[in-house]
Amino acid sequence: MKLLIVLSVAFVLLVSCGGSSEKTNTMDKSPLPEKTAILDAADDLSSHPGESLYKQHCLVCHQADGNGVPGMFPPLHDTEWVNGDNATLISIVLHGMDEEIEVNGEIYHTIMAPLPHLSNQEVADVLNYVRKRFGSAPADITVAEVAGVRAEG
Ligand code: HEC
Repeated sequence: MKLLIVLSVAFVLLVSCGGSSEKTNTMDKSPLPEKTAILDAADDLSSHPGESLYKQHCLVCHQADGNGVPGMFPPLHDTEWVNGDNATLISIVLHGMDEEIEVNGEIYHTIMAPLPHLSNQEVADVLNYVRKRFGSAPADITVAEVAGVRAEG
């Protein structure tokens, strides 16, 4: 009889443990900050010169996790602009953007103000950081390329 009680207690414990680990799993799927922390650690971009530039000049709109704000500020993860042509990407920072675009199935027609006060070095650094952190195209934007786009006006 005692054995039966011990066994049923053990069974209840097992079931409740199973239940709680299921809860932990669903938790893992939802919060983004956790994922971002893992990404940061894996990529170790904390010492990249673009990190503080991103925080200072882009984060307020595109957010710390690069997900933007739906309907207002587009995300930066693997978009056709982040992974696209270098000159176009540079031009977005130097000259801003004001067109109707579709990102991840969502339409944006908002305005990004130009950031011409950033130096050529700063534009190259922040865009290479954005490519490394959110994109998959090579982070090969040079200071000379930024100077070229700036000179074209
Ligand atoms: C004041 C808010 C704001 C700031 C600051 C800002 N952006 Fe944007 N950005 C926008 C908006 C709004 C758009 C979409 C413009 C449109 O609809 O034409 C955009 C579009 C973009 C795009 C093209 C669309 C996409 O999702 O790929 C890129 C790339 C981009 N921004 C990068 C940057 C970078 C890099 C910085 C910092 C150097 C920055 N932005 C700073 C608001 C901002």
